[in-house]
Amino acid sequence: MDLSKTDMLILRQVLFAYPSNLQQPVLNNATFFFPAGEITFVVGKSGSGKSTLGNLLMKYYEPLRGDILIDGHSIQTLDADWLRQNVTLVQQQSVLFNETVYQNIAFGKQDHVAMEDVLSASETGDLGQTLIDLPKGLDTLVGSNGKSLSGGQQQRIAIARARLRDAPIVILDEATSALDQTSKHKIMEEIRKSSLRKNTEPLHLFCQFRSKQTPQRLRDRDDSRNQRLLLPPLRMT
Ligand SMILES: Nc1ncnc2c1ncn2[C@@H]1O[C@H](COP(=O)(O)OP(=O)(O)OP(=O)(O)O)[C@@H](O)[C@H]1O
Ligand SMILES: [Mg+2]
Repeated sequence: MDLSKTDMLILRQVLFAYPSNLQQPVLNNATFFFPAGEITFVVGKSGSGKSTLGNLLMKYYEPLRGDILIDGHSIQTLDADWLRQNVTLVQQQSVLFNETVYQNIAFGKQDHVAMEDVLSASETGDLGQTLIDLPKGLDTLVGSNGKSLSGGQQQRIAIARARLRDAPIVILDEATSALDQTSKHKIMEEIRKSSLRKNTEPLHLFCQFRSKQTPQRLRDRDDSRNQRLLLPPLRMT
């Protein structure tokens, strides 16, 4: 399948409950469209099922009913390797390895990684000041699971890693929650620029925001036309 021809990622009438709580659907007849080449925000209350969407798109779980389609292909027919290469999920706490910052960013890229690509990805993660602050810059060891770094520094590395992977579908699930507003804004701008640079190649991207950020405020803050807000939330709790 050639994702450069993809025009839509679709959840169609998805019913889903976690196996441990089958009586309580998290998604009930949920239909979502994520148009290619656009950044889509998913907004909903805490517990409304936003992270669950990421879990389903990574195929950690399967819908009980309904379907998830990428370029018209049901996700059920796509194998795990294909998904790993084409869909990147960045969560609030991403896994970091007890290696250098450089290796943590380069991690996941199969082929040789050029220094300039790591630096460019670092820019997307707004890592400039962090690299100045760390004793050995990119060669600083991050400690087991990144424990020698702040939560925000860990998130910046995870975003840089996602940028370097350059998957067509990127899911940011509260991936910038530990960052200050200026950094968040800068990172979103970088992501937006890089998705626009792709030009003919589509990029699906969705981010989630906590319920306290109401749709209205999101619209006010960000009026870029390559964004689209999908409402309503999946399930009111
Ligand atoms: N692994 C799991 N097993 C069972 N139930 C789960 C699991 N993960 C989430 N849930 C339940 O599914 C519902 C949706 O959770 P989810 O994490 O998708 O919400 P969310 O919208 O991401 O919330 P938040 O804004 O707090 O991150 C919640 O009721 C939650 O308790
Ligand atoms: Mg969540």
